[in-house]
Amino acid sequence: MTRTLLVTGGAGFIGSNFIHMIVEDRPDWKVVNFDALTYAGNLENLASLESNPNVTFVQGDCAEPDDVQRGFDACGDGPVSVIHFAAESHVDRSILGGLPFVRANVLGTQVMLDAARARKTERFVHVSTDEVYGSLGATGFFTEETDLDPSSPYSASKAGSDMLVQAAHRTHGFETLTTRCSNNYGPYQFPEKLIPLIIANAREDKPLPVYGDGMQIRDWLYVRDHCEAILTVLEKGTSGEVYNIGGHNEYPNIDIVKAILSALDKPESLITYVKDRPGHDRRYAIDASKIERELGWKPRWTFEQALPATIEWYLANDEWSQGVRSGAYRDYLKTQYGS
Ligand code: NAD
Ligand code: TYD
Repeated sequence: MTRTLLVTGGAGFIGSNFIHMIVEDRPDWKVVNFDALTYAGNLENLASLESNPNVTFVQGDCAEPDDVQRGFDACGDGPVSVIHFAAESHVDRSILGGLPFVRANVLGTQVMLDAARARKTERFVHVSTDEVYGSLGATGFFTEETDLDPSSPYSASKAGSDMLVQAAHRTHGFETLTTRCSNNYGPYQFPEKLIPLIIANAREDKPLPVYGDGMQIRDWLYVRDHCEAILTVLEKGTSGEVYNIGGHNEYPNIDIVKAILSALDKPESLITYVKDRPGHDRRYAIDASKIERELGWKPRWTFEQALPATIEWYLANDEWSQGVRSGAYRDYLKTQYGS
């Protein structure tokens, strides 16, 4: 079936990888990329698709109903589904100030839901995160039944958006699907997040900031696997359901940092333990058996393949890395890590 997708946040990390995948795997589909182009949004991520007639761009803010209307207008009159990636996404920035997160993630999601219902869209896929579940102890996994227990303004605002999506389904019978994925890595990730930050600093022999004891555990998934899972949920998911996405790939942060140092042949003396993140979640781990059992999705990339491929990508795309590390980004680094 030919489809038109309104992809919010398509100029960001996962959204741009998703659009590249759609162009490859569903070449007759149309995509309207609706993005505010915040510091994290970068049209360079989609430069190779500039002349593709199936991909159009509308600059706008999800929290502004008039902007969102322009986004839907660009989709034409046929059937449309929404993939809602747009969000403020960085925990450390949310600790510095929560308001932009409430605006983009909570208000932005409600504006999108209202406009999508009015437009009678087919399906609304809400891209959420495992961080809404809070922190695990040494054992156990997040399932779709785990209570929401967010720790940061980021994860609290995502939990709020998840509740609004649930309400749109229960109250209005609107076709929604919610995904909750673990930490992603891969090309086009803004270098404020752990893996691209460590690659960028290590290359330049700068200190590698490791929060607290470095023993916090994240469950890493290659971004392409996440994108394939979202497409699977769009095409096969049951309306109103939540699907956890993950690949059973848990590592303490310090192991990730050491693996990158080893791949780049850099010394461990660059590791610099810094003050811990307030409210730092100790461990995330996803039970993704529902999406595997019900929809037949499975990750295709192992960490042993995808981490080196990711490092290679950053080495080969130095211009991209330099471009996104603009003046504003340097100001953020100063606020976050000091001199
Ligand atoms: P990102 O920060 O790289 O990109 C976010 C994009 O949204 C940017 O292009 C930005 O310009 C845009 N945006 C922000 N506010 C907007 C607004 N008000 N209106 C329109 N556009 C706006 O984020 P990401 O890492 O690609 O994450 C995308 C989604 O996936 C988010 O909803 C995030 O919560 C979720 N998620 C991320 C991860 C991860 O590891 N990165 C894991 C699970 C879920
Ligand atoms: P991050 O990439 O910000 O993702 P999230 O907080 O959403 O999981 O951080 C991943 C882990 O790495 C998290 O436990 C915090 C830690 N971390 C550091 O130790 N140093 C850093 O400079 C950054 C950015 C993160």
